[in-house]
Amino acid sequence: MATSLISTPPATTDTTPDKVHPLVRRLREMRAEARLGGGEKRIEQQHAKGKLTARERLDLLLDENSFQELDMFVTHRTEAFGLDKQKYLGDGVVTGYGAINGRLVYVYSQDFTVFGGSLSEAHAEKIVKIMDLALKNGAPVVGLNDSGGARIQEGVVSLGGYADIFLRNTLASGVVPQISAIMGPCAGGAVYSPAITDFILMVKNTSYMFVTGPEVVKTVTHEELTFDELGGALVHNTVSGVAHFAVENEAECLGTIRRLLSYMPQNNLGEAPRVPTTDDPLRMDERLDSIVPDNPNKPYDMNEIIRLVVDDGEFLEVQPHYAPNIIIGFARLNGRSVGIVAQQPAHLAGVLDIASSIKGARFVRFCDCFNIPIITFEDVPGFLPGLAQEHGGIIKHGAKLLYAYCEATVPKITVITRKAYGGAYDVMNSKHVRGDMNFAWPTAEIAVMGPEGAVNIIFRKEIAEAQDVEVTRARLVQEYREKFANPYVAAQRGYIDDVIEPRETRPKLISALEMLANKRDSNPPKKHGNIPL
Ligand code: HXC
Repeated sequence: MATSLISTPPATTDTTPDKVHPLVRRLREMRAEARLGGGEKRIEQQHAKGKLTARERLDLLLDENSFQELDMFVTHRTEAFGLDKQKYLGDGVVTGYGAINGRLVYVYSQDFTVFGGSLSEAHAEKIVKIMDLALKNGAPVVGLNDSGGARIQEGVVSLGGYADIFLRNTLASGVVPQISAIMGPCAGGAVYSPAITDFILMVKNTSYMFVTGPEVVKTVTHEELTFDELGGALVHNTVSGVAHFAVENEAECLGTIRRLLSYMPQNNLGEAPRVPTTDDPLRMDERLDSIVPDNPNKPYDMNEIIRLVVDDGEFLEVQPHYAPNIIIGFARLNGRSVGIVAQQPAHLAGVLDIASSIKGARFVRFCDCFNIPIITFEDVPGFLPGLAQEHGGIIKHGAKLLYAYCEATVPKITVITRKAYGGAYDVMNSKHVRGDMNFAWPTAEIAVMGPEGAVNIIFRKEIAEAQDVEVTRARLVQEYREKFANPYVAAQRGYIDDVIEPRETRPKLISALEMLANKRDSNPPKKHGNIPL
């Protein structure tokens, strides 16, 4: 574990009367009381559900002895419903700052043992305080969420507290990275704050996200659903796309946050830390030469290509279970953090559809916010045709990805491994949308559409009148393929900067990244753009 600049010795807990001043003893007793949250019994219940307490989670998340707690003695101010007789020091959330791999991070960790981690005015104020500090000091915010939403007994005051947090989430968006872990049943306002943040992690079997829980759903729509069916980790990682990671347990969740942050800068003005590697920047890998099959309609695994190219084969895939026809995630090239966007020909032939466009667009924008170069591995047969996609709005959703690539000013490098057809060619960081370095493998096919589709349209009459339709069609397809289904037409125009051997990909990418290290580019001044939402 890296040594943290921010660290103090463990807190003293000894309250033996003759050893300490009575006032100090009182302080230690109050600290001990705060550390117990809702009490031993509720802590046992929390453990029985397979969950850690708010403080145990922070111990796993942060570097040893680095946590500095704030507002430990805050309590709620409500008298209604007998709440004046139920006060807990800290009021259901542990807040402060600490270090992850030696770098400053602000944290809050909701305590389900206190009113189900529900958000009171005071609880909200504590979160707001650390968010304000994070914005002023330029460091990430990690929220560990385990909350029943707005504290029902407080009414509108609690709703106001949520809105105060949503505002900060929004103002901090694109300024400091924000990461949310869902570690229990999160309802109502407890899901909207995470939804504005950059990444959401969910723990399988113990975490849930829903705007309204199963009871309310039953009343309103008469649907009878379990917590898992309505908003479990798998639902949000496969169906809704709300979450980015589904992890097996809380330790894995907290470890993944530490890993995720290692690819990011502290804020939008910084650069991600460079991590020394023993992986040779000039390493060539012959296995890359034979991954793309001779038959252009045969699938292959793009993940294999990514792992053979990046440092030490280490790739942190984001949203691996959602829209798997596009792959997104973080890796390093010669120690530099990069965001990777790639088609996956092994799933739906790597086609761009609604879900994959949205997934890719959000990731491209994240990388652009935080100065992380984007590497695109492209093998895309186009946008997915059909009624469901058209009626679902593929036009506006596909435009999100296009918009995201167009506006991004970080270093942007593309490697076309096979197909780059139609509008999808334009979208996937083509030269025309400010791709800085565009490479193609000799297997690349850059054209308006695939040979079969093209021939059927432009030679319809000729094929219909032919004596032997199939022989004629095959001849025309072959001619088209030779003429257009290669990288050289684009390379002749300079749309492709170089056609490279697959094995050269790693050294070529690393050299291009070095060359682009001081890239400066910007967009016209404006309040903000209007991305098609
Ligand atoms: C006050 C709450 C609470 C809440 C739970 N508790 N939610 N107290 N306000 N919102 C308390 C319970 O009374 C209980 O106290 C303790 O926390 C544990 O709750 P249980 O129900 O026993 O736990 P469990 O069975 O695990 O169920 C968890 C839960 C459920 C799914 C979160 O408690 C629940 O449905 N809560 C209400 C969710 C909700 O509708 N929230 C409001 C959303 S509206 P005791 O003393 O018995 O231990 C909202 C508006 C903001 O958030 C919208 C902004 C856009």
